[in-house]
Parts: sequence; structure tokens; C-alpha cells
Amino acid sequence: MLILVRLIALPLITEKDNTRDIGTRKEGTFLMTTTNQIILRKATLSDVPEIFNLVNSYAQQELLLPRSLGVLYETIRDFVVAFDGDRLVGTGALHIIWDNLAEVRSLAVKPGSTKKGIGRQLLEFLKKEAIQLKVKDIFALTYKPEFFIKCGFTVVSKDIFPKKVWVDCVNCIKFPNCDEVAVKLILSEYSEE
Ligand SMILES: CC(C)(COP(=O)(O)OP(=O)(O)OC[C@H]1O[C@@H](n2cnc3c(N)ncnc32)[C@H](O)[C@@H]1OP(=O)(O)O)[C@@H](O)C(=O)NCCC(=O)NCCS
Repeated sequence: MLILVRLIALPLITEKDNTRDIGTRKEGTFLMTTTNQIILRKATLSDVPEIFNLVNSYAQQELLLPRSLGVLYETIRDFVVAFDGDRLVGTGALHIIWDNLAEVRSLAVKPGSTKKGIGRQLLEFLKKEAIQLKVKDIFALTYKPEFFIKCGFTVVSKDIFPKKVWVDCVNCIKFPNCDEVAVKLILSEYSEE
């Protein structure tokens, strides 16, 4: 019995991406993923001020939708954060839209930490979470479709998404002249590892 408990407590290392998942698989939650020095984990309330600064700095450049502190506290369970040592270097959120669809939102890597694979790791974390939740498709509305295409997404028409997706758009200064690109990843090809 003792041996069994020790085995379950060991972190799982997937050979494919040299990623170490430390989580309570029994309950089906991913708590943390590490690759090199970057640690990814679910966000907590104390991360909100830094997430706020990061997301809204890109919102000022019109690359992301702005998020208020109130909305971040309300939706904190959607968020993952990436740390390099004690520095928050990235964040992203998985927002459930409907029974088969979730949106990747507020994906942001700090300037100075980009192009080191952190964006891809954040997306991978959110993808695994979506697979666990039995989400069929994930999508994003983005000005950086090239990044998503590199991560396996394909460009799709915005018309395929339900009206519910567009609720937040009234908060965008570009509304109703949206020039974001829709990208989608079908998850049915992936299974829980
Ligand atoms: C888009 C963003 C999240 C990418 O993060 P990142 O950590 O630099 O991305 P990665 O290093 O993981 O890149 C993964 C791949 O995408 C490529 N890539 C990243 N950004 C790219 C871009 N803007 N254009 C083209 N390719 C890009 C990388 O070169 C890499 O390709 P490779 O696998 O062939 O080496 C980051 O630049 C960012 O925060 N941008 C501002 C906010 C934003 O636009 N978010 C996305 C909208 S939801």
C-alpha cells in the first residue's frame, strides 16, 4: 500500500516534450508544469495585479482586450501563469463558451521573454486543461495568427462561432469593425495522456 502511494505521488514526465506535470490526476486537475526554468501553474488571486498590468499593457497596443481588476478576480480560475524564478513572465486563460467550445483569451508573454517558447507552453497547458474538461474545440481571436498556426491552429471564418462569443466585443474600441483573425484547434485528435 505504501509503495502504491509513493508511485502516485511521483511527478509524471512525458517524453514527448520533456514536460513535467505535477498534479492530482485522480481528481483530474493540472496544478503545475515545468520546462527548463519556466514554471506554469494555475493562477491565484495574488497574481491578479501582475496579470492586470501585463494584459492591459498589450491592450494599450490594441493587441488584447482590456480586462478590469473585477473581471480578472471573477475569472481567475480561467487563468494560468508562467514564472521565470519569481518573475511572472506570461499568462493566458481558457474560457468555456458552451458544451463543446472554449476560447483562449488574454494570452500574453512579457516583452523580453518572448520567442523563448513560453507562449507555446502556456497554450499547451490550456489545451491540456480543455482536453480534461472534454472540450471539443478551442479557438482564439487574435492579431497574431502566425503564432497560433505554429502551435497547430488553423484560420477559420469568424461566422462559425455562436453569438455568445461576441458578448465581450462591445468592450473593444474597434467594435463593430473587428479585424481580428479567428483561429481554431480541434481537440478530438488529442487524448488525455
Ligand atoms: C503572441 C505571443 C503570446 C507569443 O509568445 P512567445 O512566447 O513569443 O511565443 P513562442 O516563443 O512560444 O513561439 C512559438 C512559435 O511561434 C512563433 N511566433 C511567436 N510569435 C510570433 C509572431 N508574432 N509571428 C510569427 N511567429 C511567431 C515562434 O517563432 C515559434 O515558432 P517556432 O516553433 O518555429 O520556433 C506573444 O508575442 C505576446 O504576448 N504577444 C502580445 C499579445 C498577443 O498578441 N497575444 C495573442 C492573442 S490572444
